[in-house]
Formats: sequence, C-alpha cells, structure tokens
Amino acid sequence: MERTLIPIFERIFGMPPEVSSFAPGRINIIGEHTDYNLGYVLPAALNLRNYFFLSRRPDDQVSIWAENFKKKEEFPLTEISFSEDNQWVNYIKGILWVLEEKGFKFQGINGLIWGNVPLEAGLSSSAALEVSVVHGLDTLFELGIEPLEKVKIARKAENEFVGVQCGIMDQFISVFGQESMVLFLDCETLDYKLFPLRMIDAGLRIVVYETGVRRELASSEYNRRRNESAQALEVLRKSGVQKYKEATLGKLEGMKNDMNDVVFRRARHVISENQRVRDAVLALEKDDFIRLGELISQSHESLRDDYEVSCPELDLLYKVAQEFPGCLGARLTGAGFGGSGIALVKIEGIAAFKEKLLDDAEKEGFPRPTFYEVEVGGGTQAYFLSEEKG
Ligand code: GLA
Repeated sequence: MERTLIPIFERIFGMPPEVSSFAPGRINIIGEHTDYNLGYVLPAALNLRNYFFLSRRPDDQVSIWAENFKKKEEFPLTEISFSEDNQWVNYIKGILWVLEEKGFKFQGINGLIWGNVPLEAGLSSSAALEVSVVHGLDTLFELGIEPLEKVKIARKAENEFVGVQCGIMDQFISVFGQESMVLFLDCETLDYKLFPLRMIDAGLRIVVYETGVRRELASSEYNRRRNESAQALEVLRKSGVQKYKEATLGKLEGMKNDMNDVVFRRARHVISENQRVRDAVLALEKDDFIRLGELISQSHESLRDDYEVSCPELDLLYKVAQEFPGCLGARLTGAGFGGSGIALVKIEGIAAFKEKLLDDAEKEGFPRPTFYEVEVGGGTQAYFLSEEKG
C-alpha cells in the first residue's frame, strides 16, 4: 500500500513527495494506567502504522490530504487553530504548533497521510499519526530533533493542543519500538529496556480483539481515574511513600481508613499492576508464557474490579479466554472503556478461539468484533525518497 501512496500524492499535489515516514500503533502487553502514575509499562509496537509523505512548498501554507477520509485541509503556518470539524488534522496542527513554540524554523508543506491502525480502537492511532508527522518534518527540514524529544513533542501536542491528558507510553513505544521486542519502560526516569518476545517459537501468538465499542465518556472517565489515583497518592504520602513505585499493598492497607473505597481500589490497581509488570519481565526472561498469561489475566481482573475501566464486551474476551484451553491469558489493552483487548493464544487454536468469541458476541447482542493477528514491528522511520536504494 505504501508504494501506491506516491502516485496519489503526485496526482493531488502535482509534485513528488520528498520524504516518507511512518510510525506504528501499539499494544500494551501489561502495565495499564500506570504511565501517568509514573510506574512501569510493557508495550510493543505493531506492524500497523501511519504513513506520512511530504514535500516542501515555497510559501507558508500547509496542505494535507488524508487518504483514509479522502479529505483535504489547508491552513497557513501563521494561523494554527483547533479544527472542530476534522479531528485528524488537529494531531498534525498540534505537532506544528509545538515545533513553532519551541522555535524550530520551517516552511509550508504538502503532505499525505494514510494509516492502517484502526481508529479509536485503543491501539494508538493518534500517537502513530503524531510521531510520523514529527519525524517526517524533522527529516525534511533537518531539525535535528533527538528521539526522546520527538516523544515529548508528540505527547505535548496531544496534551495541550488536542486536549487529551494521556501519559507517555504510546508516543514512547511508537518512537523506540523494535521488531519482535517488547519495551519495559520506567515512566518516571524514562529508562527503558527491550526484551525479545519469543512467542512464535513457543507456538503462540497475540490476537487483538477489537470490540467495535467506542465510549463517549472515555476521555472524561480517563481524567477522573487520573485524579482518583493522584488523590490516593496524596494520602499515601502521609505514610512516607513518595511515589507509586515505592508503595506496597501492605502500606496501602495501613492507610485504608484514610481514603474512600473508590480511591483505595484505584491505588490497589496501580500498585499491583506495577508489580505485575516487574513479574512479567521475569517471566519473559525465562520464556515462561504460562506465567505471563496468568499475569495478563490478573491485570484484566484488576482493571475490571479495581480501576473499573472495562466493559461487557472486553469482559467477554476475558471470560472466553479463561474457558478456552488454548488461551494462556487475556486482558483489555490501552485505556479501556471499549476499544481492544489482547489474548495469548496457541497458534493451532486461534481459528476456534475467534469463532467462539464471534458466536458469544452475537448471542450477547454485542457489535461484531474484528481480529488482528499482529506482528511486533519496529519504531518510527523516515527518509528522503531520493536516497532510497534501487
Ligand atoms: C491511553 C493513554 C496512555 C495510557 C493508557 C492506559 O492509551 O494514551 O498514555 O495511559 O491509556 O494505560
């Protein structure tokens, strides 16, 4: 598909693209709602990506064609304002706005975007779009932006321009992901380590189950969870614990009477989830996928009962996974409230597993789920098309 985007670019803009970039979406193996609590996460980049082709213009206009929507947006660099009608263009505007604010100098562009990360499905299509844009611009205008700075620019665009208070995980994995590797990230220090995911050798695959459910309230509920977990940390601080990473379930129990039940359970999720990420790393080092599967399922239970970000469609995945002999574990991935889940399934059982989920979803009257048998792909790349080897 990428190659067919070049003639489309030429037809729309009457000139060839100079630079091509892409950035991936992600799944999170484990470590949910821990990034903004400065804890641990374990995401992996997908082979589903957003592509961005671009060329310089002589003026300061920005003209972007979105191939997925067959829509064009044009605006001058001097007037970057939020678009109420076309949400997708705000991710691009957000990046340009942050770059301008940071004092980077560049001129207008013609650009084309296309992606195969499903939208609003909890697989980070927005981080893929942001990172592909910042990397494409950095390459075309030789801005010299370091990889970690790209992560921060993309997150700032999402937090401050688009207005979504996400953590750092999605943009980080989109930049630093590597093929067949999962990334362990400490969201406080931003130290990270990549671990090989030798699942195929073990006869396993990750199946992504996309519920097709989008919750209107997702963003306000997400912010509410952020506040509740921050409130719990404030209380924990009275007991001398400064950060979630230092907290234990024992310490939390000791403070139980100082917080309400909801706030207590939010904290219990964050503390136990941080521990599960550490345990998952140990399991991965030993290629112990049975243990990994258990941790993944425990993560779902905690997200469902303590953090309360699941929904009936995601709980169905968990339930079928518990009953299905070829499935080692399953959980929601990403923010929750609809979106997607992941399951660790034996290759020979995948077809039957999907069949069962489709049947059960239909019986329950849920939307028909979509499945992706994903590969763990690499992080963002960008290059001048003229430098491409023949
Ligand atoms: C969304 C956010 C991430 C993270 C997850 C939950 O994907 O963008 O930063 O908070 O939710 O783990």
